[in-house]
Amino acid sequence: MAQMQTPNVQMPPSRAFTFHLDFEGLGWLTIDVPDAPVNTLSRETLAELAGIVTALEEMASSGELKGVVLLSGKDSGFIAGADITEFDEMSDPGVLRAALDRAHGLFDRIEALKVPVVAGIHGFCLGGGLELALACHYRVAVNDDRTRLGFPEVNLGIFPGFGGSGRSIRQAGPVDAMQIMLTGKLLRASPARRMGLVDKLVRVRDTLRWEARKAVLQARKSSPAPFTKRVMALGPVRGYVANKMRAEVGRKAKPEHYPAPYSLIELFEQHGDDWRAMKRGEAERFIPLMNSNTSKNLRRVFFLSEGLKKQGVRGKDKPVFRRVHVIGAGVMGGDIAAWCALRGMGVTLQDLDMERIKPALDRAKALFRKRLRSKTEIDNAVARLEADVTGKGLARADVVIEAVVENLEIKRKIFAEAELKTRPGAILATNTSSIELERIAENLTAPGRLIGLHFFNPVAQLPLVEVIRSRFNADADIARGAAFALAIGKSPVVVKSAPGFLVNRVLMPYMLGAVQRVEAGANKEQIDAAAVAFGMPMGPIELMDTVGLDVGKSVAEELGNPVAPDSQFARLIADRKLGRKTGQGFYTWSNGKAVKGEVPPHPDLAGLGRELVQPLVNATAVAVAEGVVASDDLADIGVIYGTGFAPFLGGPMQARKDGRA
Ligand code: 3HC
Repeated sequence: MAQMQTPNVQMPPSRAFTFHLDFEGLGWLTIDVPDAPVNTLSRETLAELAGIVTALEEMASSGELKGVVLLSGKDSGFIAGADITEFDEMSDPGVLRAALDRAHGLFDRIEALKVPVVAGIHGFCLGGGLELALACHYRVAVNDDRTRLGFPEVNLGIFPGFGGSGRSIRQAGPVDAMQIMLTGKLLRASPARRMGLVDKLVRVRDTLRWEARKAVLQARKSSPAPFTKRVMALGPVRGYVANKMRAEVGRKAKPEHYPAPYSLIELFEQHGDDWRAMKRGEAERFIPLMNSNTSKNLRRVFFLSEGLKKQGVRGKDKPVFRRVHVIGAGVMGGDIAAWCALRGMGVTLQDLDMERIKPALDRAKALFRKRLRSKTEIDNAVARLEADVTGKGLARADVVIEAVVENLEIKRKIFAEAELKTRPGAILATNTSSIELERIAENLTAPGRLIGLHFFNPVAQLPLVEVIRSRFNADADIARGAAFALAIGKSPVVVKSAPGFLVNRVLMPYMLGAVQRVEAGANKEQIDAAAVAFGMPMGPIELMDTVGLDVGKSVAEELGNPVAPDSQFARLIADRKLGRKTGQGFYTWSNGKAVKGEVPPHPDLAGLGRELVQPLVNATAVAVAEGVVASDDLADIGVIYGTGFAPFLGGPMQARKDGRA
């Protein structure tokens, strides 16, 4: 780095920022919030930045400063946004308004600095962090796998509040900017560059400084989006575009559940052709959103999911998992194996013969092609997943996962062999969904070695893994299981070995209750629409068809609810009308979609939905009371991840407390 000089202007003291002026007159401003894994913009950090900007203004006026480069000192990335831990303290609209006005004023001052200000971005640049970068005159980003830019605010029930709505439209044009704000989708460096959010890419972080320095010395300034993009927000076109956005959002979220995207679209409809007006209009809409129950609950969900990451074994004892051996190449086993290979593990997949393994390998290839970008990455993943008819992978594995048919004797045999052949430290896990763990483990020499790792179908889409604890397990066994789930990017929730564990146990009474209503003459379309109106992602009848009626029946039996032989449910199963997978269940299925009739009118669909969901809520409360899951918090996040239960209600236990379920 170039030699430093002491600025004539006194820099105020700061915990989060360091500033150096070099001999070329470049000011190097680095953010590195102390005692935090990621940089966030807390009130304190923003106040420090305000003091620094005052000094920069003076230095720029005196000619001492030629330009500023803003970098992050953290390996984890640039800035992860405003500090969400402070949001609960912002419930007073006056306090929030003042905080937003301060941030807007500060970012406007940065933009108005008379010298070039360049942001050098690596890793995460999210929410308020991206808003700060957009207030700089030019943005350089590292084009590697870790860089992500975006506005995840919508996942917290709000939208960008530090001027990002207007500035992103200015840079990326209305359609692209609204798209990323409405979806919360994070972009890699290249698409962000194509979109206009970033001006220049560098290959590695080491060259960020060099490129940023050049940008300052050449006084480069980012160009706003061209007219061809801006035209989509002009005149009557804007109303049309807004309606299209509303329709798009409407497919995923209802305004009464998730008001933020709708409010943002209204703001766009008002001011989308004038980025400054858009920016000015932000606060008025942002304040009620921040104080909404939806936002409070979504923030809670964020922190609950962060809490799940704290499980497992951390620090120097953190286990390393390199090799996974999966026994059983059916849908679950095959997809678990594919997922582990996708996440970088070496995987052996065992079944009786190649014929049984081949379909799993084909599905895995399709997954790799969908999720990985380059041919090399895909080829590597394919090479990591190996068919293993003889079971040679057992001896090398760090984790063994059994996912064969639900037959106690077969499972016992598998683990008796696994116990002999695997390394002493390897995890032995079953993906059983119905057999008590203790019964599988009891004949082992060390029954505490066996844990449950219960994945959900489709494995690639559902984040939850129930880590099942039997009475034989020690805390360390479970912590290692949770650590493995985290290592493959899943969210572990520890659950006691009890029929149905957590998710099936709470889902079944809800689904069976709905089936009973249909059997008694209720309209299935109306039942499903009611659950969706309440906030479930899918109605219970459609869900039963999706899960498969045969699977539903066996889980119901396991939970002590045998299906009546003279019921429509039993008849459908007898006729092999098993739901989506056979093209016919309660619904007829065409191209992977249930063919639905008209929904008969109902005076209070959401109210009916609430009634339908009641058994799920009650079963969750019982599961907590019986210690199946350790706390209300874990039950809420487990049920949200496992069933899609309305996140805007914060989970069944929270909804119950709030009197909303
Ligand atoms: N505020 C407060 N804490 C945050 C935070 C934020 N914006 N972002 C991350 N953290 C905390 C996490 O809670 C965690 O704390 P812990 O160690 O005490 O549990 C720690 O930082 C590390 O985070 P992760 O464990 O999640 O680290 P990962 O590497 O797995 O993920 C991340 C990093 C992608 C940045 C992820 O943390 C994330 O998605 N954060 C939230 C990003 C976000 O929503 N930003 C928008 C904030 S709202 C905003 O900016 C409003 C503005 O427009 C006005």
